[in-house]
Amino acid sequence: MNILIIGSGGREHTFAWKIRQSTQCKKLYVCPGNAGTAQVAENIPLAVDDFEGIADLVLKEAIQLVVVGPEVPLVQGIRDFFEAREELKEVGIVGPGKAGALLEGSKDFSKNFMEKHAIPTASSQTFTKTTIDEGIAYLEKASMPIVMKADGLAAGKGVIIAHSLQEAQDTLRSMLLDEQFGEASSKVLIESFLDGIELSVFVLTDGDDYVVLPEAKDYKRIGEGDTGPNTGGMGAISPVPFADEAFMDKVEQKVIRPTIAGLKMEGIPYQGFIFIGLMNMNGEPYVIEYNVRMGDPETQAVIPRLENDLVDLLWASAKGGLSTKTLRVNTATATTVVLVAEGYPGPYQKDKAITGLDSDSDCIVFHAGTKLRDTEFRTNGGRVVAITGIASDITKALDIAYHKANSIRWEGMYFRKDIGQDLVKLQ
Ligand code: AMP
Ligand code: GLY
Repeated sequence: MNILIIGSGGREHTFAWKIRQSTQCKKLYVCPGNAGTAQVAENIPLAVDDFEGIADLVLKEAIQLVVVGPEVPLVQGIRDFFEAREELKEVGIVGPGKAGALLEGSKDFSKNFMEKHAIPTASSQTFTKTTIDEGIAYLEKASMPIVMKADGLAAGKGVIIAHSLQEAQDTLRSMLLDEQFGEASSKVLIESFLDGIELSVFVLTDGDDYVVLPEAKDYKRIGEGDTGPNTGGMGAISPVPFADEAFMDKVEQKVIRPTIAGLKMEGIPYQGFIFIGLMNMNGEPYVIEYNVRMGDPETQAVIPRLENDLVDLLWASAKGGLSTKTLRVNTATATTVVLVAEGYPGPYQKDKAITGLDSDSDCIVFHAGTKLRDTEFRTNGGRVVAITGIASDITKALDIAYHKANSIRWEGMYFRKDIGQDLVKLQ
């Protein structure tokens, strides 16, 4: 079949790399893609929210399966757009409609969902401009640190952990009154702080059944030792040693099953990925957030461990039939290191010449913010490249990834040198 991937990051290059290995994939397109996806697919220069343009492409190229990478087109209703058009109704789409995408698009919605379906999460209250005085008073009785979350999409920046009452009250005012995150912070959740170790769990569902993909740990901060501002993710490791069978069993019973059942109960059809951000607190899972897509860079560590034909799983998610699928997962460890532009996650420069990108036999180079100019690779984003090493243990896998990272160059390149070190110590 002909397949389209929407997006342009390392996650989408990973999907393209894996889908290309399937005998079921005839032609593969990526909108808009990057210099890496161009090596395994045809890039089409359409924005991820250009639904008319994407619909025309799907019809012209007889595309049967659309895999939506990022959250924005999902929250804006790409599935609803396709379902409303007679000639596009039969196209398989991996990703939920607008109603399901609210799990990521509104933190207030997802908190209410979790409370309604008894899914363990931090306790919280939501405030708006008109209830700000109650919010200020609520903070006076709260213990610190405390977590403040903009309700809507804020490109991963809408969460602030305040360590003092003054900081918390200032943050609440700036989010609600100064619209620090625009419309996204017109509602703010004040949530208790969960103290534990984070991990990401990924589910692929057809709405009735599901498969649980390998879990991963993400490294969100820019600086070594988890310091400095949050980024989209600076590295990922899969598997996560503390996510043993007993813990994952709790995740399945207390979180995954009630989530799938809750969506059904509320009449929300859901075909696609659910990414569950969890905190492990003394062996108990608590949900920090839902995302309605795969993680980036977690995908770059998770998908290479999957031995199944990915098209087979994606088609079953879109069209039903996941109950007949069994995952086959490589027991090796995958470690991903992200190379970023100087200044990221703040302002950064683009268009720097990159050398050393060719793939070695023992690691995979996934492109993110890259483009080709003539025959030269150039930087085109904050997160530029993700390198995944795979080996029988975490130390060997990290050696492979870092060896490759050290052979890539551009002016101002930066990467964290301590990805996975916390997990190495746990061994
Ligand atoms: P989110 O956008 O909800 O994933 O939040 C971004 C990051 O903030 C998470 O990955 C956590 O590291 C942190 N965070 C969010 N909520 C909490 C919480 N209730 N307790 C502790 N840390 C949190
Ligand atoms: N790495 C976190 C995310 O994709 O949201």
